[in-house]
Amino acid sequence: MTKHTVTLTDNLTGKQVELDVLDPVMGPKTIDIRRLHKELGFFTYDPGYLATASCSSAITYLDGDEGTLMYRGYPIEQLAEKSTFLEVCNLLLNGDLPTKEEQEDFSSIITHHTMLHDQVQYFYRGFRRDAHPMATMVGVVGALSAFYHDDLDIHDPEQRMRSAHRLIAKMPTIAAWSYRYHMGLPFNQPRNNLKYSEDFLHLMFAVPTEEYVVDPLMAKALDVIFILHADHEQNASTSTVRLAGSSEANPFAAVAAGIASLWGPAHGGANEAVVNMLTSIKDSGKSLEHWVERAKDKDDHFRLMGFGHRVYKNYDPRAKIIRELANEILDRLPPNNPHQKLFDIARELEKVALEDEYFKERNLYPNVDFYSGVIFLSMGIPVSMFTVMFALARTVGWISQWNEMMSDDANRIGRPRQLYTGAMKRDYVPLDKR
Ligand code: SDX
Repeated sequence: MTKHTVTLTDNLTGKQVELDVLDPVMGPKTIDIRRLHKELGFFTYDPGYLATASCSSAITYLDGDEGTLMYRGYPIEQLAEKSTFLEVCNLLLNGDLPTKEEQEDFSSIITHHTMLHDQVQYFYRGFRRDAHPMATMVGVVGALSAFYHDDLDIHDPEQRMRSAHRLIAKMPTIAAWSYRYHMGLPFNQPRNNLKYSEDFLHLMFAVPTEEYVVDPLMAKALDVIFILHADHEQNASTSTVRLAGSSEANPFAAVAAGIASLWGPAHGGANEAVVNMLTSIKDSGKSLEHWVERAKDKDDHFRLMGFGHRVYKNYDPRAKIIRELANEILDRLPPNNPHQKLFDIARELEKVALEDEYFKERNLYPNVDFYSGVIFLSMGIPVSMFTVMFALARTVGWISQWNEMMSDDANRIGRPRQLYTGAMKRDYVPLDKR
């Protein structure tokens, strides 16, 4: 069978290079450019990596045109409907749906890693009470590397997996403590008799003066939201974790870098930005058309947060599921609940935007962040905690991708090059001559 290659010709020198085309299981073929610089003396230029595959991966596949998303080949719609977040963690980490026994073992391992070293509580005390919880998360998760660095050999698969278990297990405790510290409430300890998402609600909202009763619908909704946020191919924060991890840095430090990257409003910080935007729209008394026009105005920094996506040029499949979930949860609340107005604005805004030529031409659809915030609000989770929720769920994706990279013996430190546009060589000019 003819080998698939592409030939690049430098039309100034006539020099050519033949490059291999690599076949994926699904998705676009890729041109292997690793010989390009050596044989033709060129770098490639792709700021923002719109057309660059930074790695090979078997974990998550998404098709932006079709609006499909699969974890290890399983469609997100089926996992959201039939699986649990902890089973999805097992699937993402280990590659296949576990047997009943395998999942029971995995669940027991995670349950018995949820506690934090007693010293960790003192890291919170260094922050002001009104510190943004994402700042606390970056600090505390990074600090875990101080507790698990010495005995950690990241080239040992078992020790890598133990780090993964620790991170998945401890993130709910760390996240909830960030909230409790922010609110001036005492820290709760994890409960081994509660399931993952139930325990998170308990860690967040239990008060020492009475028994906390988990709302099963809220726990289920949270579990589905965690599933939807678990992984998403080579997004900005995952690429950050891979790049930090490629230098063989401690996985806790690499995940802390991922949390920092996720915090940006162009990425995971968008869920917080969406609710702030909906609140501004609600309070402004201006029409939705006014805000959509502002989002289209190049001279106006305002954008419709929660809209648009680097890859999805169709509906984000996660947004569809989250919107239905928001409907279900808000239908349970009294019609005059404080969040209904925001949800109604979100639905109206989506309708106005999707009928607008500007959005249609640019394939700007709601993404995963557009509706998630309204659900978090209805759970009593404050806006400042929204991106923390995203980080909690995405930890399994980050550490699964890190583990995949570290398991590859061909892994090398990531070191992109550049198109230099600075000054030519010039000699130093003494101060009295300038
Ligand atoms: C996440 O990568 C991932 O997978 C991320 C994520 C994950 O699970 O990890 O899916 C999670 O980060 C979702 C995205 C959350 N961010 C937001 O909702 C913030 C608002 N969206 C935009 O900032 C933007 O759409 C991005 C950042 C999401 C994507 O930016 P791109 O791919 O660089 O697209 P772009 O900025 O080049 O926009 C293309 C055009 C531009 O107009 P023109 O220059 O062509 O005239 O669309 C316009 C943009 O001005 N545009 C918007 C818009 N988003 C893009 N116009 C108004 N409102 C918007 N939200």
